[in-house]
Amino acid sequence: MKDNIALIGFMGSGKSTIGRVLAKFLDMKFVDIDRLIAAREKKTIPEIFAEKGEAYFRKLERDIVYEESLENNIVIATGGGVIIDNENIKALRETSYVVYLDCTIDCIYDRVKNSKTRPLLNVENMYEKIKDLHSKREILYKISADYTVKIDKSSNMYDTAEKIKQAYIYGN
Ligand code: S3P
Repeated sequence: MKDNIALIGFMGSGKSTIGRVLAKFLDMKFVDIDRLIAAREKKTIPEIFAEKGEAYFRKLERDIVYEESLENNIVIATGGGVIIDNENIKALRETSYVVYLDCTIDCIYDRVKNSKTRPLLNVENMYEKIKDLHSKREILYKISADYTVKIDKSSNMYDTAEKIKQAYIYGN
């Protein structure tokens, strides 16, 4: 069994919320890559994007993903763009059981539409942007994952965490 569990998926798919519950269920530590990035820079994610640019953010993301991959017994919530960089996937898959939270577009939109903390979605037509980015990334989420769990508006975070726990312990 791999030491860690890494949750991947689009913005708003519930990686942090479900990750916290899953970590409790399995008595593992929870870490959130975006929080670690913000703490290291002493800035919010929108501030990092605005002041230093996306490439700078991606470099930090890569460094922190690599460092956390070396830890044991942790549940890792990644940022939605983690799969863009193959180095991240390689590092995560080395030590983590990678789980894709496959959330419907409508559910994603519902959860992020009032959020101001996601610079990539700070555009006029957010729904179209989500659809476009999602269609480009979907294949990467799928091929990176050991296990995929479907999520829609009716999903409950405890049931989802329980499904992941069962798949992790008993295989899928
Ligand atoms: C991003 C997702 C965000 C954050 C950054 C970029 C992306 O994390 O890492 O805004 O490229 O999808 P969440 O998925 O937690 O919103």
